[in-house]
Amino acid sequence: MAHPAFQDDIIYQIFPRSYKDSNGDGIGDIPGIISKLPYLKKLGVTAIWLSPVFLSPMEDMGYDIADYRHIDPIFGTDEDMDELIKKAKKAGIDIIMDMVLNHTSKEHKWFKEASKSKDNPYRAFYIWRDEPTPIDSTFGGSAWEYNPATKDYYFHLYAPGQPDLNWDCEAMREALYDACNYWLDKGVYGFRLDVIENIGKEVEQGIIQNGPHLHERLHELNRKTFGRTGGISIGECWCADHDTRLLYTDPARQELSMVFLFNDWCTFHDKEFGKWKCRPFSPKEYRDIIYERQSGDQSKAWDTLFWNNHDLPRALNRYANLEYRDQAAKMMFAATMFLRGTPFIYQGDELGMVNGHFASVKDFQDIEAINHYQILQDKGMSKEEAKDALDKTARDNARIPMRWNSQKGYGFTNGKPWVDGGKDPGHSVSEEEKDPNSVLNFYRAAIALWKDKQYRDLIRDGAFSPDYLEHEEWIAYSRILGNRKLRVIANFSDHPYPKPIIDGPVLLHNYEDDNEEFRPYEIYVFLNE
Ligand code: GLC
Ligand code: CA
Repeated sequence: MAHPAFQDDIIYQIFPRSYKDSNGDGIGDIPGIISKLPYLKKLGVTAIWLSPVFLSPMEDMGYDIADYRHIDPIFGTDEDMDELIKKAKKAGIDIIMDMVLNHTSKEHKWFKEASKSKDNPYRAFYIWRDEPTPIDSTFGGSAWEYNPATKDYYFHLYAPGQPDLNWDCEAMREALYDACNYWLDKGVYGFRLDVIENIGKEVEQGIIQNGPHLHERLHELNRKTFGRTGGISIGECWCADHDTRLLYTDPARQELSMVFLFNDWCTFHDKEFGKWKCRPFSPKEYRDIIYERQSGDQSKAWDTLFWNNHDLPRALNRYANLEYRDQAAKMMFAATMFLRGTPFIYQGDELGMVNGHFASVKDFQDIEAINHYQILQDKGMSKEEAKDALDKTARDNARIPMRWNSQKGYGFTNGKPWVDGGKDPGHSVSEEEKDPNSVLNFYRAAIALWKDKQYRDLIRDGAFSPDYLEHEEWIAYSRILGNRKLRVIANFSDHPYPKPIIDGPVLLHNYEDDNEEFRPYEIYVFLNE
């Protein structure tokens, strides 16, 4: 059956700042990533999604781009990037750039021009207003910032240093497409598109996500950039109901390959405090959302299968009893990777990495966390509660250095890491490499199975059918193609159940032995033909 190439990809996200430092300044960089290509090849991933490495004042860790065509010196040179693209390709790994098209940095030359005067040709690239409307920035405070030179306000949904682009302006859109094409012509595979659901916004009407022009704009972006080369496109989306999601991914509409959707995580958020105060996790509620994404017209749906990224606290802390850390880490990966969609691994998932330890509020580096320490107190939390909320939820948790070994600097740097999460003995590449039962070696086996030609069509194309719905703490389903059936049965809890019948050859299992019981976080993946 003909299928788009991206349906055979398994993607690894790198947050470059925290992956591997090559020059001892405590900040991960591109030469560091190049040095780890053999590791990634052995892991088995087919593509790297690289969080932004473009020139940036780093107000939002690179999601504030000052020049779409150049690499920030802290990450290396433009030549280093070319070398990464080339060497990765040689290792069978494609590079996906993280394009932030909703806003630039205020240091971008477009904004520097636009903010000079009302008749500047770049003025229309951004969104202006004489008086602010009552709308808050995601990072706290008003979304309108005063610009003294023009005596009016520009719109920024994120930090004041991240002015939103005006997608109504055709010249602006063309300038962005040129930037995308610049990278496609260099041989990158495609893009992860930052907060892409916002580009149809109608600020005057208070509409941000899913605005009226969103889908026509995505179609245009597709046709003028990655659609030309058959490249991959992964759109970041925080909210999309089932039908909206299918609009993005319906191949006939030529919009996106897939959307990276957070509705599973958002469902646990508090009405008032949002993500900073989550309800207890319920496997059933989680499962209901994930299963819905597997249902409906599957010719239009292609899901993203992930637990973590650079914006989320680690899923192991959120959803599992850490007494069973390794079992849970293995189970969570295997429980979702056999659904219909593209599996994503965020750096360190393959080690079972957990949240960092931040002794003091001063240890947090992220603008969102720093601002929210105060905002949460303004909303009524005590200092201790606000610190606890940061410990559980700050994005710094996902951004602590990758653990290459358990020594000082974690094998990440010879210098002082820009952010530190404290020690975590036992969970590093060098330690897990040696242990045949480590999370790392389980990930390798799981990825090899996912890519195995014998099962590829079954895992890619098989119909989804949920099993054991009566067990609210289980994730269990079948993928069915002709008379072949791949079955996944997982216990998403810290207590045992009677063991289900495993009637077929086991392809993947996360305990070393067999048992009469279905143990905490145990998972079986087996063939049932
Ligand atoms: C996305 C990014 C996040 C960033 C925000 C603004 O959500 O993943 O890290 O802060 O967009 O660009
Ligand atoms: Ca460095």
